[in-house]
Amino acid sequence: MYYPDSIVDEVRSRSDIVSVIGSYISLQKSSSNYVGLCPFHNEKTPSFNVNPARQIFHCFGCNKGGNVFTFVMEYENVSFPEALRILAERAGVTLPERTDSNQERENRGKREKLMVLYKEAAEHFYRKLRAEEGRRGLEYLVGRQLSGGTMKSFGLGFSDGSLYSAVKDRYDDALLAESGLFTFRESGGVRDKFFDRVMFPIFDQNGKVIAFGGRVMGDAKPKYLNSPETLIFDKSRNLYNLNQARRSRRGYFILCEGYMDVIALVQAGFDCAVATLGTALTERQAKLISRYVNRVVLTYDSDEAGQRAINRAIPMLHDVGVSATIVDMRPYKDPDEFIKALGAEEYERRIERAQTSFAFEMKFIADRYPDRASDPAKKTAFHREVAEWMLRFKDRLERSNYIRSFCETYGCDESEFREMVTEAMKKAPVRRPVEESQESVPVEHLNGDGVVTQEFGRKRAAEDNVLRSQNVLLSLIATNPRARAVVRKYITPEMLDGNVYREAARRCFEADPNETIDVAQMVSRFETAQEQRLVAEMLANDEADRTEDVKRAVCDTIQKVLMYYTDAQIEKARASGSSAELLRYTRQKASLVRDLPQKLRSEDI
Ligand code: UTP
Ligand code: MN
Repeated sequence: MYYPDSIVDEVRSRSDIVSVIGSYISLQKSSSNYVGLCPFHNEKTPSFNVNPARQIFHCFGCNKGGNVFTFVMEYENVSFPEALRILAERAGVTLPERTDSNQERENRGKREKLMVLYKEAAEHFYRKLRAEEGRRGLEYLVGRQLSGGTMKSFGLGFSDGSLYSAVKDRYDDALLAESGLFTFRESGGVRDKFFDRVMFPIFDQNGKVIAFGGRVMGDAKPKYLNSPETLIFDKSRNLYNLNQARRSRRGYFILCEGYMDVIALVQAGFDCAVATLGTALTERQAKLISRYVNRVVLTYDSDEAGQRAINRAIPMLHDVGVSATIVDMRPYKDPDEFIKALGAEEYERRIERAQTSFAFEMKFIADRYPDRASDPAKKTAFHREVAEWMLRFKDRLERSNYIRSFCETYGCDESEFREMVTEAMKKAPVRRPVEESQESVPVEHLNGDGVVTQEFGRKRAAEDNVLRSQNVLLSLIATNPRARAVVRKYITPEMLDGNVYREAARRCFEADPNETIDVAQMVSRFETAQEQRLVAEMLANDEADRTEDVKRAVCDTIQKVLMYYTDAQIEKARASGSSAELLRYTRQKASLVRDLPQKLRSEDI
């Protein structure tokens, strides 16, 4: 960490979580907590919870959670030191000079050097394009109808393989190797990664060069070569031309597939064009987009792959509250070709006439049933598929409107179709309560180590039960000193499942026996966002301190946790074939069942 804990604690204690979060989103009081619409996923009924007593937040819909720092980090998409700075400023706390760890200082130094190198590389390529060596590159770009002004504003360049010799004396090889701009061969030779290509620098949100795409000037493969991910470049977190589009006054983004599409669009006056960086749209990019606009015009290639990509992008955008419309560019393939052929005005008209994502998706499904008019079985199958698809709308009114619209467009009996939707709803897999209202939200499940897991079915359910009991246990020992005293007689941190739980329990047991734990402070002591989220999740459940019968809660929970632990040990002994261990834990289990309840009842809580 950059700053000593004492400063972190001071900033935290002066930043009341309700007033900080309340300055970003609207919160309503609800019994002892505050609730609101979660800013991290799209919802219509509030499942976002802020607990003023514990100074933490937790969303029961998407499972995001943490303390005031976690919130600012997630919401503003900033690192911890930056969140600290924002909150310190707000609270009027002056931060001391940073005291970084060696690792952090080293990484930051490296990042800065990489930035300087990339800037220098961009300038080098830029100069070459305008020199004799880059003449073919310039001719190529002119042939693609780019103006000098456009080439300049996108910083386009040309690689003639001379970058290494231009920079090698001023950077050490380790850094040059890490930059991904060169190939270091075993023979000892070093070569530029980009050779004989026109170069497209990729800028971050602030206009700093962080990567390159390089295009061949003919038909060779690969058509585009991209620099790899580095300390300064994460392609799933950036968008091509975001730095310009975020300042556009159009109020929406045009999302396309290629560098050349963006450039052609901007040259035609659509300064809000952005593109993914050689990959499909990611959730992070969707989230990034939602920070700037709530409407996106999708203009992917007219071919089948492009249409499938649209189909994947729509729900991702929907989940972050961004609505999408889809431009039909036929008979042309992409915006670049379209604008060359029909011009900017016609493209503008196509944007105005863009299909809603709903109409697009309906048609996408309908196209798979071309014989539906003549074949009743196909027609039924079509309706059934759409009925299932309708389940993604959680809001009844929203769903109802879409059902009506579908029936009108596709000439289908509304009451019969509604019945079909109801049927589909009954058949849909039963979900856990938190997911029931939020089925379309991707819920990240964290295991006890704070790692995202992909387990489903019985194994998940069993794991959930263990974690749920451990949550109650942690909640009890954090907030109730007497419960803590009893729990520690029976349970050691090592018995808990998951590193984060063990560490949290350790911290609770180390605390002053008479004090309740500062939950928000504890969250801060964990390093990663996922660990912090997990700690918030454990402690967000305040059922335990509202229950009248604390003793019963303590006894039940100790019993359960010991039972899970013993079962796991028995399992382990079986697997390793150790009969002594097996005997020991089987006996222990018998005594848990036989004697423990009695013993717990005699505890004084
Ligand atoms: P396209 O093949 O559609 O290229 O790839 P384009 O943008 O229309 O380019 P031109 O018009 O042929 O010059 C779309 C995007 O996919 C990535 C690039 O980001 C490209 O802009 N891509 C494509 C690669 O990363 N590598 C490739 O080999 C091809
Ligand atoms: Mn193209």
